[in-house]
Amino acid sequence: AYDAKVDSLMSLMTLKEKIGQTVMYSGGWSVTGPVISSNNKKFIKEGSVGAMLNVYSVKGTKDLQKMAVEDTRLGIPLLFGYDVIHGFKTIFPINLGLAASFDLEDIEKGSRIAAEEASAEGIHWTFAPMVDIGRDPRWGRISEGAGEDVYLGSEIAKAYVRGFQGEDLSKHNTILACAKHFVGYGAAQAGRDYHTVNMGMDELRNTYLPPFEAAVEEGVETFMTAFNEVNGVPATGNKFLYRDILRDEWGFNGFVVTDYTAINELVMHGYAKDRKHATELAIKAGIDQDMMSSANREFLEELVNEGKVDEALIDDACRRILLAKYKLGLFDDPYRYCDEQREKETIYKPEYLEAARKSAAMCSVLLKNDDKALPLNNNQTIALIGPLVKDKENILGNWGAAGDRTGKAISVHQGIQEYLNDSKIIFAKGCEIEGDDTSEFGKAISAARKADKVVMVMGEDYDMSGEAASRTNINLPGSQTELIKAIRKAVPNKKIILVLMNGRPLDLSEEDTLADAILETWFPGTSGGHGVADVIFGAYNPSGKLPLTFPRTLGQVPIYYNMKNTGRPIPPDNPHEDYKSHYLDAPNTPLYPFGHGLSYTTFDYSDVKLSSKTIGFSDTLTASATITNTGDYDGHEVVQLYIHDKVGSLTRPVKELKGFKKIFLKKGESKTVSFDVTVEDLKYYNANNTFDVEPGEFEIAIKGSSDFDFKQSFILQ
Ligand code: IFM
Repeated sequence: AYDAKVDSLMSLMTLKEKIGQTVMYSGGWSVTGPVISSNNKKFIKEGSVGAMLNVYSVKGTKDLQKMAVEDTRLGIPLLFGYDVIHGFKTIFPINLGLAASFDLEDIEKGSRIAAEEASAEGIHWTFAPMVDIGRDPRWGRISEGAGEDVYLGSEIAKAYVRGFQGEDLSKHNTILACAKHFVGYGAAQAGRDYHTVNMGMDELRNTYLPPFEAAVEEGVETFMTAFNEVNGVPATGNKFLYRDILRDEWGFNGFVVTDYTAINELVMHGYAKDRKHATELAIKAGIDQDMMSSANREFLEELVNEGKVDEALIDDACRRILLAKYKLGLFDDPYRYCDEQREKETIYKPEYLEAARKSAAMCSVLLKNDDKALPLNNNQTIALIGPLVKDKENILGNWGAAGDRTGKAISVHQGIQEYLNDSKIIFAKGCEIEGDDTSEFGKAISAARKADKVVMVMGEDYDMSGEAASRTNINLPGSQTELIKAIRKAVPNKKIILVLMNGRPLDLSEEDTLADAILETWFPGTSGGHGVADVIFGAYNPSGKLPLTFPRTLGQVPIYYNMKNTGRPIPPDNPHEDYKSHYLDAPNTPLYPFGHGLSYTTFDYSDVKLSSKTIGFSDTLTASATITNTGDYDGHEVVQLYIHDKVGSLTRPVKELKGFKKIFLKKGESKTVSFDVTVEDLKYYNANNTFDVEPGEFEIAIKGSSDFDFKQSFILQ
């Protein structure tokens, strides 16, 4: 609809102005608001900047927008982008935690709220969702994705895009989404951020690309490049990824932005001989906008004049960026995101804080609960121990956006105070997150001795995950585990409840033997303390399920449920048989598998039925099961459908999630849950690199976790 408008605007533009649209610079932030360098102001006035990042607030964005609209020859408005990753001011649980809710509606709602808040502060565009599959807990950015699974990751990618972009981008409360980082970022060797990625077509096509393709199908408007190389070619110069796959195969119509300074980094990768060469490679690969390399501004015009870059490539990039600005309605009103009244009314609305509280509860995963250690009741005295009990800084997690890490954030202590009188809470910090200081252990032990139950709130510092935050060990840091041991020794018969905040799967094998209950709350966000307390006291019955595997030891990594078999799998009845695929010193199985998560009630799965044992290519198979709440609490259960394609022209994973439904069952209630399976669900990129289905036998199961053996199958013929 906007093509003619874009064409007519472009007919007026000089080459330099077109290049300007492909340039993004960053503002800084001080206590008084955004800080823009004099150089950046000069470039904006010259029409050499198309977008800014890290500038927000109505005042900050309006001042710059005025410069672009009033001081440049053509008055083309700027785009303002920001990392609105799991909330803008009202911060929701980190994305890995959001994935644990298995609740697409809630994820969509959270990103809608984030878009409402961000757009009220002048933001047009979020650099989210990150849809990178993550299978290595050493990698710090595993915290920003949806975990290890292709199906779950793809569904969640779509939910974020729907939430951010809404149904109509021209509305002032919707923002552009950005699928990142294309591609393979999560497969960095040894989990070291930015490191080399080398993978075959099977893994690329069947594991790493699908969530991106799903985002395109959902209409995502922008893509961001990855910092890593893929099979020898850095992503930011990778024509195969951006021209062949993204544009030609998937028909993507939006624009591609680089990650921060990624064009310059082509030189360090050893792919470009200098920055000018890098600029040429990036535009040829299909990269439309340069985030912070300055390379497009400095070299593109020269490259065109020298005949090294065809101007048509710049036209194409510029056209895509202008189109996004038209879709947002910025040419009708460049200040439509700059309404001070709306800004005041929108930020931290009570219903947003309430939604964040609910999300925090829904994302918590009850990993273990021996002898019903949880929930607590309000007649007991508790010892509240650990470095994260009163914490407000870490609770927002990484990418806290514009969230308040002091006043607004609710600590676990504050959350618990809503349920327990202060006289029943005995607080002792006990230790710091990091370091080996044990001098406060004594106070913690004496608190534990005085209490009926012990609640320990521990985990990682928020910046131990996220960008450039890879770890070579995934234990609870510092002396925290030592403190749990000391408490266990001092009060051997008291219940110890471990409440965790962390941005990656940790090796909890020791904690698993020490604590009676373990509640994984990730970093639960602004209202996190309330949401976590709701779970601890049973106001919300936990329903979160792990979106990725927790190993027994780092030596098992990478470990994920949808692995391939080997030619020598271990026999179930003899796991130590020689010359089989196993370790000498640890089992193959994880500590907590994908899909695992307990409830205060119990669910029984029975009466699993298939509508047919054989289906044809145009048939639909219906698989159903009856789920019964057999325990003492009402609760939600995430019912999971798994399939195993037994034989393929490329080997297939031992099981794959193909559907899930979250249901609510009252005590004693039963429901029948059914899933429809068609050939579309059975397709994969086969040995001919074709997305297709192959006839044969498929095993199928409906379960509450990925830890099971298949009992039923059907034939596709
Ligand atoms: O969006 C991010 C990206 O994920 C990592 N590098 C910086 C970008 C902009 O802040």
